[in-house]
Amino acid sequence: MVRRLKRFWTALLALLALIPGIHAESRVKYVALTFDDGPSGKYTECLLDGLHERDAAATFFLCGYRVEQYPQLAARIVREGHEVGSHGDSHGYFTRMSPEALCRDLARAQEKITGACGVAPKLLRPPGGLYDISALEKTVCAQMPVVLWSVDAEDWHRTDVDGIVRDIVRETKEGDILLMHDMSDSSVKAALRVVDLLQAQGFEFVTVSDLAALGGHRLGAGKVYYHFPAGYVEKKASISAREAHTEP
Ligand code: NI
Repeated sequence: MVRRLKRFWTALLALLALIPGIHAESRVKYVALTFDDGPSGKYTECLLDGLHERDAAATFFLCGYRVEQYPQLAARIVREGHEVGSHGDSHGYFTRMSPEALCRDLARAQEKITGACGVAPKLLRPPGGLYDISALEKTVCAQMPVVLWSVDAEDWHRTDVDGIVRDIVRETKEGDILLMHDMSDSSVKAALRVVDLLQAQGFEFVTVSDLAALGGHRLGAGKVYYHFPAGYVEKKASISAREAHTEP
């Protein structure tokens, strides 16, 4: 009986694989979920519990002044396999700071995050997404890849969990970087529901660095990234292969 059931499943799976749509949907699609402004006490704790249950990795862009308040939570983030990036020390807008003030702010954030987490942040997300690339390039302390986002449901000022979830799930494509905040009950509830729904659609949640690496992207300091669309690397590889071919 067991063997007959096994044969049935094997035959069914083989049949399903012949249908192109189903085959495409069954492959893993990677995305990166990111959280800004924390750590934030009980909300971050609840989020970490939920991510752990779901085996989902995320990237946390931490503020230095909040890491100072919750150093153990910052350490837990890294311990549980997530990535940490810098969101500045004071959450002041980079575009309103002098180069010296910006450098001080970033150096303080770097020191606090590294001290608490045991690893130095290698990614930078400017508060509000506001930056001046020429100013960043000249600031020694800002020599990191700038990571923005491609999906934003503005969860920070909303409390309608259903609406946040609907907007994010509708917009998300393979290679996207999703922006959220671990700063409220509604954001954390929405984030975990987003993970459930997208995992059911074949998405897998990885850190920003892993998302880039999986696509073969090498991140550069001072460069700005919104997402890592699939297929880009393959296209580039085929172009460079062609160029190599035509070289004398
Ligand atoms: Ni922020």
